[in-house]
Amino acid sequence: MVKVSLELIARDAINAVKKKDIIVVIDVLRFSSSVLTSFANGAKEVIPTKTLKEAYEIRKKYPSYILAGERRGLRPPGFDLGNSPLEFKESKVKGKTLVFTTTSGTQALTRTSSADWVFIGGFLNLKSISLKISEYARKYVAGISLLLSGRKGHFSLEDFLCAGAIICNLTLEEVELSDAAIASFLAYKQSKNKICETIMLGEHAKHLIDLGYENDVKFSCQTNLYNLVPAYRNNVIKLFD
Ligand code: MLT
Repeated sequence: MVKVSLELIARDAINAVKKKDIIVVIDVLRFSSSVLTSFANGAKEVIPTKTLKEAYEIRKKYPSYILAGERRGLRPPGFDLGNSPLEFKESKVKGKTLVFTTTSGTQALTRTSSADWVFIGGFLNLKSISLKISEYARKYVAGISLLLSGRKGHFSLEDFLCAGAIICNLTLEEVELSDAAIASFLAYKQSKNKICETIMLGEHAKHLIDLGYENDVKFSCQTNLYNLVPAYRNNVIKLFD
């Protein structure tokens, strides 16, 4: 029996780490979607940082690294790329190391740095992430924690629905779902045929649409565009072999 639970905001990452669970960090809008797209387009690795200062310092030391991310949804000064998945084209990222900092996604992720197994999940790699964590939960006899990055310390609808989608796609024989996991599963089942429409009702999607990023929202709602599973280990995200 594999226990599957949700951590509803970035700050609760610590609970997943303490349980020694296999962790999936979900930030549909937009960190997960941007990282997945970077790897799909040949990025070598991604170094997530909590602060802008850390990101600038790494770049000073390694001038060939690409700075990417956002604050208030927008590209910070001196950065090469923002946090729009559509920006991470092959011509920009192939073979490159990216230093990435965002308001919530990298905050959630860096809080899991002491965990053994941390993966990046979103709708874009739904099937592959679900298969990978099912396999690992079996292999290591561990629970699964789906860590929702949320938005500025608050719960967000799109990450919750994505958690439900992952639960729906697990290939485990027996699971014990936490109450939040059951709720996400039910919410996803109810909205799976109008997922983008539903996500657009959420605060984060509305905010991005106001900033002119409606295409990012639509792009990030696509399922199974990529067959890849990035893992976070030793403070770096790399493609999982
Ligand atoms: C974040 O990590 O806070 C998000 O990816 C924000 C955004 O949509 O740019």
